[in-house]
Amino acid sequence: MGLHNESGVVLLIGAPGSGKGTQARFLAELLAIPHVSSGDLLREHRKAGTDLGTIAQLYMDRGELVPDDVVIGMILARLDQQDARRGVLLDGFPRTPGQARALDVRLAERKTGVRRALYFAVSDDSLVERLSGRWLCESCQTPYHSIFSPSPAGPTTCGVDGGLLYQRPDDRREVVAQRLVVYMRDTSPVIKHYRAEGVLREINADHSIDDVRRSLEAVFAGQTVEALATS
Ligand code: AP5
Repeated sequence: MGLHNESGVVLLIGAPGSGKGTQARFLAELLAIPHVSSGDLLREHRKAGTDLGTIAQLYMDRGELVPDDVVIGMILARLDQQDARRGVLLDGFPRTPGQARALDVRLAERKTGVRRALYFAVSDDSLVERLSGRWLCESCQTPYHSIFSPSPAGPTTCGVDGGLLYQRPDDRREVVAQRLVVYMRDTSPVIKHYRAEGVLREINADHSIDDVRRSLEAVFAGQTVEALATS
């Protein structure tokens, strides 16, 4: 079903729990580009016990952002990998003005740029409800929700690969509150930046998972390779 997309960098921007990870899996398949989540990469480093993971843990558990230099280096290295050369779906990056500048510079060096920045707009009440019921697969990171999107394999088992489901420590209510403060403070300017660049599309993500998916399909409907690469 892939919509081939030459050098298309597409961003998913939105508050914690707005549904970026849920829609990213579908969108990456639609656009035929890899899904790269800064949060997932940081959690992989933590699990592997790397130095980067040890630094990241100090910030993630408090609901703070990991320092720009750490995250920028990690993402730019990922963009250099072969499978990301034609395009990539970036989920959760950039989320500070410094990260946006670093990304823009790297893409300009490659004579390309951000093609779409999809901003998931959701009310604060929905965010808290979504995060408090979220369960994730320990191995493939597929997100579920105990009410809105239960796993077909049961409450503790992933429907994709049979992995064990767990709840993220930073989904505790007090950490979520801090993540929302940080999001408003640091990521709002990034939304403004891409709006000024003319690439931002706001998605009303307060609807059901299927309705949000249909809105995303509509954004890319009828986009040829050429249209997406030059618009
Ligand atoms: P990260 O992992 O990126 O978390 P986040 O951005 O806070 O986003 P979430 O993963 O919490 O939410 P989501 O939007 O993906 O929602 P989901 O689809 O799962 O970051 C974690 C931490 O890592 C940060 O706090 C920071 O410390 C660090 N970090 C990461 N990137 C960084 C960066 N660039 N710079 C610095 N530090 C960084 O959905 C949530 C739940 O809702 C699920 O249960 C889902 O089933 C359900 N759901 C989804 N859509 C709907 C819907 N439409 N209706 C009902 N339920 C829904």
